[in-house]
Amino acid sequence: MSSSLLSHGFNKVARILGRDPKKQNFPVLEDHPAAQAHAEVAIETHGDIQNRVQKLYKEFRIFRWSADHPTNNKPFLQSYYVDLSSCGAMVLDALQKIKAKDDSSLSYRMSCREGICGSCAMNNDGTNTVACLEPINADTSKPTVITPLPHMYVIRYLVVDLTDYYQQYRSIEPWLKTERPPEDGREYRQSPADRKKLDGLYECIFCACCTTSCTSYWWNPEEYPGPAALLHAYRWISESRDDFTEERLQALTEDFKRLYRCRTIKNCTANCPKNLSPAGAIHKMKTKHMFSEPMEKVESL
Ligand code: SF4
Ligand code: SF4
Ligand code: FES
Repeated sequence: MSSSLLSHGFNKVARILGRDPKKQNFPVLEDHPAAQAHAEVAIETHGDIQNRVQKLYKEFRIFRWSADHPTNNKPFLQSYYVDLSSCGAMVLDALQKIKAKDDSSLSYRMSCREGICGSCAMNNDGTNTVACLEPINADTSKPTVITPLPHMYVIRYLVVDLTDYYQQYRSIEPWLKTERPPEDGREYRQSPADRKKLDGLYECIFCACCTTSCTSYWWNPEEYPGPAALLHAYRWISESRDDFTEERLQALTEDFKRLYRCRTIKNCTANCPKNLSPAGAIHKMKTKHMFSEPMEKVESL
């Protein structure tokens, strides 16, 4: 109950009993009518504010299921109500508040809170995103629904199994491969122009938002590396200091189910919280590969 209602009720009872409510409320101000009036207004204003603040409660419906107890429960959405007036602006802030105040069993990954580690990836109202970069939708008339990254095995609540995802990353050999020692014997140097070719690629935080939104990946998770791994493959193909560009491209294209499983649907680019374009990187690799192949072979792809 708000303090405004309490104050109102108290005054009513005081009047029935024939007492001056202002004096009852503020006995120390008995001989200061102006101060009593100010105090009364302050209480009512506070009550009004409290009433308005209550309208900022936002419902979050969060996916619950745990592999620890697979047969006990079916997956379900649990509602939590968060007071937005005392919460940070991002979805991760709301999750932190729920975990701290309402339900310590709520599980999700997070680390940096700055959009750098990529660990807080989840699905927010139908869009994959990292929760620390996603502003809360302040429309309190409808709930925000938070579920794990789609088409992944759930370990617990919002935590999914990324073992295969990291294995696919490993398969593109994401490290510098050279056949020659550095010219100065200390480090491999790169011109500013060559370094610029990595823009739009090196910023990837490997959050998996793109890969888990890709329908080609959903249907071929074992053969198709997915857009995140392919974006990194292109990052190393574009690397001027790397000596294995051709081999990298060949490894991606000798099996049709790798690079060419991409159907250019572009869900990946639409879901990247860092505004990168995995679809664009894949398209450039396809182009690079096609220009290196005889026309008969290209037409058969
Ligand atoms: S390309 Fe974007 S969505 Fe995909 S893993 Fe990298 S940062 Fe995440
Ligand atoms: S463009 Fe390619 S990688 Fe991106 S979502 Fe579509 S099929 Fe997947
Ligand atoms: S917590 Fe690191 S990206 Fe969100």
